[in-house]
Amino acid sequence: MDYLEIIGGKKLFGTVTISGAKNAALPVIAATILSDKNITLTNLPNVVDIRTLLKLLNMLGATINHDKTVAEINNGSISSTKAVYEIVSQMRASILVLGPLLARFGECEVSLPGGCAIGQRPIDLHLKALEAMGATIEIKGGYVRAEAKNGLKGAKIIFDKITVGGTENIVMAAALAHGTTQIINAAKEPEVVQLCEMIRDAGVKIEGIGSNELTIEGTAGKTLHFPNIEIIPDRIEAGTYLCAAAITHSSITLDKVNPTHIRASISKLEMMGCSFNLEETRITIFPQASLKPVDLITSEYPGFPTDMQAQFMAVLTTCEGESLVEERLFENRFMHVSELNRLGADIWLKGNTAAVKGVKTLYGANVMATDLRASSALVLAALVAEGNTKVRRIYHLDRGYDNLEGKLLSLGVDIQRKKES
Ligand code: UD1
Repeated sequence: MDYLEIIGGKKLFGTVTISGAKNAALPVIAATILSDKNITLTNLPNVVDIRTLLKLLNMLGATINHDKTVAEINNGSISSTKAVYEIVSQMRASILVLGPLLARFGECEVSLPGGCAIGQRPIDLHLKALEAMGATIEIKGGYVRAEAKNGLKGAKIIFDKITVGGTENIVMAAALAHGTTQIINAAKEPEVVQLCEMIRDAGVKIEGIGSNELTIEGTAGKTLHFPNIEIIPDRIEAGTYLCAAAITHSSITLDKVNPTHIRASISKLEMMGCSFNLEETRITIFPQASLKPVDLITSEYPGFPTDMQAQFMAVLTTCEGESLVEERLFENRFMHVSELNRLGADIWLKGNTAAVKGVKTLYGANVMATDLRASSALVLAALVAEGNTKVRRIYHLDRGYDNLEGKLLSLGVDIQRKKES
């Protein structure tokens, strides 16, 4: 198994190019199921999760030509509607094929994704919404079996909680439904917006894009013809590099970003003492020599993203003073705390709040990655830890960060990928 070895203490410099957003690419790839024509996706991140979803489509019978950041997909040849456990268990987001498969073929079987390191992550809201649209749903043998032989019907869906994946699944299902679907309390993350725009650009009437209320007029089963799509920049990858600059007190530039999507992270970094030069697709960060503590509460977009919580916590471990970090979205998203403490951080956990007391020095150690964003927090802490840090189980990082060590290396970090002997 690979691990990363980082020797801390280097200043960062230069420019890093941000890849396409994994969390935008996944629903876009799933949505291609709504079409039987060719579509080309560009600016895909070159990460394992994307390859996993493309493999799933391929197993369903799709024709796929994929090379790093570009994929040509044709779902005209899909011959199976069963998303098997072996793939879904590797990546929870595979559940995104449920809505489009059901909408296009009137039946499907998708393995239940199960829990993960950051919490239970149920899919009850996806299922209830599909039932409201006329689907019959049965859970058997670890699979969700869904049927809507005469097609899905438009419905009024009020989500009890804002769910990104739930909103995406229902938007895709509604696109081919009979009649109008209204989604109330919808997620409005930039990734949801890209999906809605893709479906709108294929001729489906959608109102309320980017708001908490979406109205979608279905095509009554007629498949869609999508124009080619360029995936939006990854706001979480961008935020992670801003944190890398902040924790090392270095000035770097991010290229191919959308500054509007990372306003929440920029605003917190400003409170901590960083200043910025924002251009249309570039951001330069100028951190002060010492950063101030700040309190964070995770929430839905445009609030502070849960996917940036771990990375900010890493930065806060070295800010003088105490910061409170409250996690409101996932019940168990603090697995990085004990690993950061192994590096010398001083973090106390109580319920869903972590109290972070800044320390003068972190010290290199062996640490274990537990989930995608927790892993990047350990890498960030290692950038300033004295001596040598080995980050193990980095397959989590490979799921979602495109060439992390190559990009950090180009910014001047002393980092190497090695194999466990
Ligand atoms: C997506 C992102 C993930 C991010 C999360 C929150 C992708 C591939 N993943 O995950 O990186 O951390 O949004 O921004 O885009 N919930 C239910 N029942 C459901 C669905 C969700 O109770 O049926 C709960 C979840 O347990 C969680 C909250 O709702 O507490 C939000 O989850 P959701 O927005 O659905 O997250 P994902 O779409 O899985």
